Amino acid sequence: MKNNGNTSALGIDIGTSRLCLARRNEGEFQFESQLNAFVHVPYSPITEGVLKKEKIPHTARNGEIVVHGNESDKLAELLGMEIRRTMSRGMLNPSEPESLNMLREMIASMVGEPEGKTRIAFTVPAAPLGAADSLTYHEETLKQVLNGMGYEAQPVNEGLAVVYSELEAQNFTGIGVSCGAGLCNVCLAYLAVPVISFSIAQAGDYIDSSAASVTGERANHIRLIKEESFHFNGHFAEKTHQVLGVYHDVLIRSLVEGMAQAFGAAGKAARINRPLPVMLSGGTSMPAGFRDRFEKILREHEFPVQVSEVLMAPEPLHSAAKGALTAALTTP
Ligand SMILES: Nc1ncnc2c1ncn2[C@@H]1O[C@H](COP(=O)(O)OP(=O)(O)OP(=O)(O)O)[C@@H](O)[C@H]1O
Ligand SMILES: [Mg+2]
Repeated sequence: MKNNGNTSALGIDIGTSRLCLARRNEGEFQFESQLNAFVHVPYSPITEGVLKKEKIPHTARNGEIVVHGNESDKLAELLGMEIRRTMSRGMLNPSEPESLNMLREMIASMVGEPEGKTRIAFTVPAAPLGAADSLTYHEETLKQVLNGMGYEAQPVNEGLAVVYSELEAQNFTGIGVSCGAGLCNVCLAYLAVPVISFSIAQAGDYIDSSAASVTGERANHIRLIKEESFHFNGHFAEKTHQVLGVYHDVLIRSLVEGMAQAFGAAGKAARINRPLPVMLSGGTSMPAGFRDRFEKILREHEFPVQVSEVLMAPEPLHSAAKGALTAALTTP
C-alpha cells in the first residue's frame, strides 16, 4: 500500500483488555500498551506525589484518585479490589457508568495532543456472527472522542487490521484472526478488500470466567496462571491447566465453526478460487501450541474455503495496532 507521506499518523488498537498505540519513528514501528482498566484509591497528597514521580497514569478528583492502565491491576490485587473495565465484549461497557470518561482519559494519556493535522486509525470489532450490527454507538463515540482531541479519526475493522499488518507478502489476501479478551474477530480479505468479517464473543474473558466457575478461583487469578504457564502440549499436571485446556478447545472449535458458517453462508468466499492463509494474532493465541491445535481442529472440519497454511503473527499483541497504523499511513 502506498504511504501518504504523513509520518506523524497513529494507529490505536482499542481492545477490551488493552490499548495499544503504534507509531512510526525513523522507519521503525514503536508500540506502547496500557491495560484498559482502572481502580479507585483514597486521595492523599503523598499517594498523588508518588504516582506523579513514578509516571503512573492517574486522575485525582472528588477526594479520590483513579489509577488507570498497567498499574491498576497490581494495585487492585494489593487492595483486594476488583479492577474496573471500560469495555466488555469488544465495546464500551454498558454496565460501567464511568466507561466513556475513563476510556477518554486513558486514550488521551497515550496519544497526547496532535502536532498539526494528524490522522489516527482506531480498531473496531465486527458484528457478532448472525446478529444485527450493534456497533454504531461504539464506533461513532470513539470517533467523537478522538476528533475531540484534535485528530482526524477513522475506524478500521480489527480483523482487517491484522490482514494489513501481517499479510502484505500475500497481497493482503487471506484470513486475519484476532483472538482477544472480549471477542475473536475474523476478516477474510481479497486484495486488501474486506469480503466477510464477523466476531464471536468467546475469547480470553470467556476462558477466564468459565475456568473460574469450575475451579472456584477468581477469574483474575485464572488469567494470571493462563498468561504465565498455560500451554497446549503435554500432560496437565495441575487441575487449573486441565480446565484451561478444555475451554481453549471449546473456543477454538467455536471459532472454526463460526468461520465455516460465515464463509459457507456467504457463498462469496468459495469464489476466491485460491488457497488462503490464516493469520492468528491477539493475546489469546499466545499459549504455546495454540497454532497447532487450531490447525488440527480446522483440518478435521469441513471448510468452505481452501486454507494454504495457518500462521502465527510474530508479535500477536501488536498486530492490530500496526494494521491500524498502516491504514492511517496509507489513507490519502
Ligand atoms: N501470554 C499469554 N498467554 C495466554 N493468554 C494471554 C497472554 N497474554 C495475554 N493473554 C490473554 O489475551 C487476552 C488479551 O488479548 P488482546 O490484548 O489481544 O485483547 P484485546 O484486544 O484487549 O481484546 P478484544 O480484541 O477482544 O477487544 C486476555 O484474555 C489475556 O488474558
Ligand atoms: Mg483486540
